[in-house]
Amino acid sequence: MIAITGATGQLGRLVVEKLKAKTSASDIVALARSTAKAAGLGVAAREADYDKPETLGRALDGADTLLLISSSEVGKRATQHRAVIEAAKKAGVRRIVYTSLLHADTSPLSLAEEHLATEAELKASGIAFTILRNGWYTENYTGSIPGALAGGALLGSAGEGKVSSATRADFAEAAVAVLTGEGHEGRTYELGGDEDWTLQDLSAEVSRQTGRAIPYRNLSEAEYADALKGFGLPEGFVRMIAGWDVGASQGALFDDSRQLSKLTGRPTTPLSVAVAEALKQAPPAGA
Ligand SMILES: NC(=O)c1ccc[n+]([C@@H]2O[C@H](COP(=O)([O-])OP(=O)(O)OC[C@H]3O[C@@H](n4cnc5c(N)ncnc54)[C@H](OP(=O)(O)O)[C@@H]3O)[C@@H](O)[C@H]2O)c1
Repeated sequence: MIAITGATGQLGRLVVEKLKAKTSASDIVALARSTAKAAGLGVAAREADYDKPETLGRALDGADTLLLISSSEVGKRATQHRAVIEAAKKAGVRRIVYTSLLHADTSPLSLAEEHLATEAELKASGIAFTILRNGWYTENYTGSIPGALAGGALLGSAGEGKVSSATRADFAEAAVAVLTGEGHEGRTYELGGDEDWTLQDLSAEVSRQTGRAIPYRNLSEAEYADALKGFGLPEGFVRMIAGWDVGASQGALFDDSRQLSKLTGRPTTPLSVAVAEALKQAPPAGA
């Protein structure tokens, strides 16, 4: 049986959907802090709250393989993931696949520390593991397109930094390939898109597809944080986002190893396709 944490999240939902196409739904269990939220996934759901270790053992009962999708609660994650790994040891889980961060061991991003701590826990656990060091989701950027269209410019502080992003669906498919394939034990994969692009390239693509000039405006880290604050984002979060963009300017989100498409056996989703999809979901006013 394959258990999946974060199954009610955006990545987890895609993993469950794609996994059902590869293996019987009765071999999949969705772990969720709210089982009500898991209704509709089409697989069994069990309560698993990282902050309530007593739920984790029960949730993992009978699971051979666990996909530990990293928690979204930055700052609490190392502790939360440790609780899951401890519970997996006690429950006799044989393999854990973990979603980490691209180049976690050398990344300047503030997020790296907690991922590295979890990678170390996994290596020390004695359980067979595979580490999926996921790069940035393309959706992190296509989500800013409506704001860029409203404001007439795409803002950031990533400079000329190249981003090898892929869509959540691409990363989900890679996770499914590892969960259902063989020979991945002990491996660490650096996962990014086949194509790399800069924020300048993204603004050019948005301009091309909308027929409107949407330039990229590169800001200092402080200016970008201020701009994000102006959009109503919380103080702590805007500093993190601006810091990640500076990391991107230093190449933190670039990887040309194409390990993702090697795992899935198909090219990753091109930026142009992801932009078109985003524009379909949120068409510009007057379109
Ligand atoms: N590569 C990237 O660009 C990128 C971007 C953002 C995040 N991430 C990382 O990748 C993960 C998956 O991405 P995503 O887009 O699917 O994020 P997401 O939609 O925010 O999903 C996060 C999942 O974590 C679950 N979770 C949070 N706290 C929990 C707790 N205490 N106990 C149990 N479950 C808990 C959430 O449960 P609920 O459904 O109940 O909320 C949700 O299912 C994120 O959590 C984060 O670690 C990566």
